[in-house]
Order: sequence, then C-alpha cells, then structure tokens
Amino acid sequence: MSDLFADLTIRETTVPNRVMVSPMCQYSCAGDGLATDWHQQHLGSRAVGGAGIVMTEATAVSPAGRISTDDLGIWSDAHVDALAPIAAFIAGQGSVPAIQLAHAGHKGSKTPPWDGSTPVQPDGEGWVAPSPSAEAYPYDDDKTVATMTTEAVEGLVEDFRAAAERALDAGFEVAEVHAAHGYLLHEFLSPVTNRRDDRYGGDFEARTRIVRETTAAVREVWPDGKPVFVRVSATDWLPDRESWTVDDTARLAGDLADEGADLVDVSAGGLHPDQQVPNAGPGYQVPYAERVNGATEALVGAVGGITTPEQADELVRNGRADLAIVGREHLRDPYFTLHAAEELDREDAVEWPIQYRRAV
Ligand SMILES: Cc1cc2nc3c(=O)[nH]c(=O)nc-3n(C[C@H](O)[C@H](O)[C@H](O)COP(=O)(O)O)c2cc1C
Repeated sequence: MSDLFADLTIRETTVPNRVMVSPMCQYSCAGDGLATDWHQQHLGSRAVGGAGIVMTEATAVSPAGRISTDDLGIWSDAHVDALAPIAAFIAGQGSVPAIQLAHAGHKGSKTPPWDGSTPVQPDGEGWVAPSPSAEAYPYDDDKTVATMTTEAVEGLVEDFRAAAERALDAGFEVAEVHAAHGYLLHEFLSPVTNRRDDRYGGDFEARTRIVRETTAAVREVWPDGKPVFVRVSATDWLPDRESWTVDDTARLAGDLADEGADLVDVSAGGLHPDQQVPNAGPGYQVPYAERVNGATEALVGAVGGITTPEQADELVRNGRADLAIVGREHLRDPYFTLHAAEELDREDAVEWPIQYRRAV
C-alpha cells in the first residue's frame, strides 16, 4: 500500500513522494516571458520545502500563448537560459523539475490580475487571441479574438513540440501539456467553444484531435525515460448545455495513455463564465480524478482543495489518485511536504535541508 511518502517511479524518473506543486501563474515576467529572480525564489523554495515534483506555472509555447503580458514563456533559446538555473536548483534539492506547456487561446492578451485582468489590445502590448471559433467567445466585448486556420492549428502542434525540446534543454524532467481551464486546447475539446468544420471540429474524435496530436508530439521529443503529463478539465460545469463532460474526460484519458501520456492531472472548469461549480470544498475535484483513474492505463493526479497532509495522504493511501497536487496551500506554506512529514510522523521520509537543521 502506498502513502504520501511512498516514492513513485514513472518510466525512469523517481519522484521521492506524492506531493506536486500545482502550476500557478506568477505574472512576474517583464513582458518578455523570461523567468526572473521571483520564479527562482518561488519555485526554489517549494523544492526546499520537500515537494516531490515542482511544476512551473503555465509556460507559453508562443508569445500569443500567454494569458497576460507578464506570463512565463519558452519560445526562444533565451527562455531556456532563464529557466535552466531554476530547473537545476529544483533537481539539486531532490525534487523533480516539471514544466507546464501552455497556450492561453482566446483567454489570452490580458493584464495581470492585480491590474484587473483587462484585455490588452493588439495595437498596444497585446495580441490577437487565437481561438478554435471566435464566434463562441462573445462574453468579453473588448477582446480581439480570431478563428485559427487549419494551418495555424497544425502550427500549434509544432509550437508544443519545439517548446518541449527547449524544456528538455532547460533541464526539466516532466513536461505537462495544459489542456484545462478554458485555455486553447480545452477550447478545442469542448463543443461550447469549438464550432469548427475542419478535421479539428465536430465529433469527439475531431475535437480531441489537437490534444492527442499535441501529446504525441511532446512524447516524440521527450526522452523515453521521462514522464509526460496532461492536465485536463474533467467537466465544463455547464450542465444546462452540450458541453465537455466527465465521461468525455474518462474516454480521452484512455486515448492519452495510448499517445504516451504517463499521468492525467485532473482539474475542472474554467471554460465559460456561466459555469456552475457544485462545491469548492475540501478535495472538490477528487471524485473526477477517481473516475478517470478507473478509465485509463495512465497514472492520475488529483487537485483542488487539498490543503491538509491527512487529505493528501488519504487519497494516495486509498488508491483514489497517484499524486496529490497542491496549489494554494503551497502559497501559504512552501514547506507543505516537510510539515506533512512532521504531522504524519514520517520525518524518516523527508529531511529538512542541512542548512536549516539547527531549527528542527
Ligand atoms: C495564483 C494561481 C495561479 C494559477 N495558475 C495556474 C496555471 O498556470 N496553470 C494551471 O493549470 N492552473 C493554475 N492554477 C490552478 C491551480 O493549479 C490549481 O489547480 C487550483 O488552484 C486548485 O488547487 P488548490 O485548491 O490546491 O489551489 C492557478 C491557481 C492559482 C491560485
């Protein structure tokens, strides 16, 4: 039986425990997508804190793939140089460095949240936000959104492939494809936002094609010994209309394993402002992870409202998920894993950094 402190070997990568730092945008680049001292300190401290995997925020595969002007990117060699010391530091602490590769789609070209998340126009510092179907995005009047041509969609696969190659050069061990939260890949999955009539729109097969192709492209360039993850939104939380459902996710998760995905990171929502979140209490998305767990050969990560060591331990112990993915609690406590070891009486499993031991 596994618990929170059981290691996990995925291909040839051994993760020392089952805690992963969930990807969290920091909106802390200077408009160029380059990682800064903030990213080094932020991700570095969570590695010092003992998490088994430390994942970067959504890292844009192209300039138009950013959510805000200050998001992280990986579309040039300069981005590799900025990220490499961060990945090296994380690995040096015994954590596994992971990167989330992302495209924001029609939700992009905004200011950071503390500046209101307001649209930035293409004639300023913004860009035309690419979308599967621009007509499906009427709820943000001030945004300039354009429907992608079929060639542009094919180009997106190549952007993910190139980004993965760069991520590898930067020293990351896990690449995660971000297909959740209403960003570009999720926009293709959902019939709410995908009204295309080329081979990337229509039935389940067509709408999921881009996610399968992107995953396969990342897998192709990612070494056989290293893991590929895919984050999905299990449901659009739009029960009143034809939308992306948990059943769709379970089916896609099986396909993703066939494309070489090693773990499905199961989140939810984010597609549409009308979404109805049933509850946002403790572990609110764990049941979706459990459902996916029963439907795929891939491992499964649970995320959402996991805030205590007991909760994280319980879901691994009972086989509900293979990984406990912790977001906001890591903002409150960078040392979540070290504190969890104390609370669960497992100090044998993870050690405070030698520099800090006089305080233990
Ligand atoms: C500040 C912040 C930034 C986030 N940025 C991302 C992101 O870059 N990529 C992503 O997939 N999810 C992102 N999320 C969602 C989290 O990864 C996580 O799924 C969500 O917060 C639920 O988990 P939690 O309850 O443990 O926080 C973000 C959440 C927060 C609070």
